[in-house]
Amino acid sequence: MKILVLSSSPNTNGLTAACAQAAVEGARSAGADAREIRINDSGIGLCKACGNGWGTCQREHRCQTEDGFQAVHQEAIEADALVLVTPVYWGEMSESAKAFTDRLRRCEATAGENSRLKEKPVIAVAAAGGSGNGLVSCLASLERLVQHVGARRFDMVTVNRWNREYKLRAIAESAASLTRSLASGQS
Ligand SMILES: Cc1cc2nc3c(=O)[nH]c(=O)nc-3n(C[C@H](O)[C@H](O)[C@H](O)COP(=O)(O)O)c2cc1C
Repeated sequence: MKILVLSSSPNTNGLTAACAQAAVEGARSAGADAREIRINDSGIGLCKACGNGWGTCQREHRCQTEDGFQAVHQEAIEADALVLVTPVYWGEMSESAKAFTDRLRRCEATAGENSRLKEKPVIAVAAAGGSGNGLVSCLASLERLVQHVGARRFDMVTVNRWNREYKLRAIAESAASLTRSLASGQS
């Protein structure tokens, strides 16, 4: 069982990193082969909106801008489930999360029923380590992404500075529960 945790903060020891670590540990505790990829370290640039707005993403479901995107896209396709962890910036996902998911969406949403993320369970985590504002709008945008690519929301988790302790446990348990349900064929 392969669980891929995609985190998208420049900080390696902050709230977002702790959430990603909790997901990896929770999935592993239930027997999954879980690992984290840090989007910020993956060399993923922006969508160039090729042509008149559509490039090979629309026709061939691949991105023609060659950079770090392709490797992470392939990892996401091969994983049995995804955990998307983003810090909340201005009530939205981080810039690196947006850069990756914009391109992912173009490649997979255009494939419709043949989306390689079809029915793939996703846990989305929004970590608002500042004021705590903007969690709902951030998750709403992650929810649209999950819908567009045909994946399935297993869980959507909000975390702030004040509930960090129990939410880290909740994320670990969510990832463990997802692993167990995949193993039992229920997910
Ligand atoms: C540009 C920017 C915008 C942010 N906007 C918000 C916000 O809307 N709400 C919030 O609670 N925290 C906000 N934060 C704080 C982040 O959610 C996060 O806690 C902080 O960047 C620490 O990162 P970490 O999660 O990797 O520890 C913002 C941070 C940055 C850099």
